[in-house]
Amino acid sequence: MNSVLITGAGRGIGKELSLRFLGAGYRVWGTTTSGDADFSHENLQMLQLDLRSPESIKTCVQELISSGERFDIAVNNAGALLDENEKTLKTDLLRQTLEINLIGTSDFTEQVLPLVNKGGHIVMVSSSAGSVGRTGNVVSRYPSQYPAYKISKAALNMYMRTLAVRLKDKDITVSSVHPGWARTDMGGEEASISAEEAADTVYKVAISRPETGHFWYSEGELPW
Ligand SMILES: NC(=O)c1ccc[n+]([C@@H]2O[C@H](COP(=O)([O-])OP(=O)(O)OC[C@H]3O[C@@H](n4cnc5c(N)ncnc54)[C@H](OP(=O)(O)O)[C@@H]3O)[C@@H](O)[C@H]2O)c1
Repeated sequence: MNSVLITGAGRGIGKELSLRFLGAGYRVWGTTTSGDADFSHENLQMLQLDLRSPESIKTCVQELISSGERFDIAVNNAGALLDENEKTLKTDLLRQTLEINLIGTSDFTEQVLPLVNKGGHIVMVSSSAGSVGRTGNVVSRYPSQYPAYKISKAALNMYMRTLAVRLKDKDITVSSVHPGWARTDMGGEEASISAEEAADTVYKVAISRPETGHFWYSEGELPW
């Protein structure tokens, strides 16, 4: 049975992604900040993970190592949008955002790396908001909003790229994917697609073997 690791698996896109993988016959190891979830499945294991806490990251990885599980796919889905209504950069919010979307995510990924199988795929759930080229263009509905979030996703994309270069000869693919503007706690009710549709985009990228080190969305490749 193939195994997938999904952070932020308890709600939003992560929950729908977990259900999609379970439906496809994968064993799913998910994380939530509480360790609990409002759904269960015989092939689902839920662990506690708070990406703001190095101790929590270490404990979570320790549990994964103790389980003896290895992963074909690891999806860094967990993320936070803390400056949604800000037009100027608030340093405290930038710090908190980077702690979750970049530092915690990269720390967790680095520690999980030895558990990823050859032929595996590490996926960062990024955002078109992190595309330098698109900011102020396609994202022109909110040209100057949530700067900390945008910065964090651009940085996450660069982490993805550097990791892809490092793992190029190790037969592990690394990708970023923009799920689309989805109706979740983060995306809000007016978003254009359902969480299920967004999860479908992430799922399709995750199970494919695209060229490593690139940034994808439902219609192909996104510009940096
Ligand atoms: N929705 C959109 O329109 C949209 C668009 C582009 C990109 N994205 C990206 O898609 C991913 C999922 O977003 P979503 O819309 O499903 O968001 P959401 O409904 O707000 O869910 C956020 C997820 O991240 C987890 N999370 C937040 N802070 C965390 C922390 N400190 N440690 C560990 N996990 C944490 C949450 O876990 P708990 O449930 O335990 O709190 C939850 O599972 C994010 O990376 C987001 O940036 C979303």
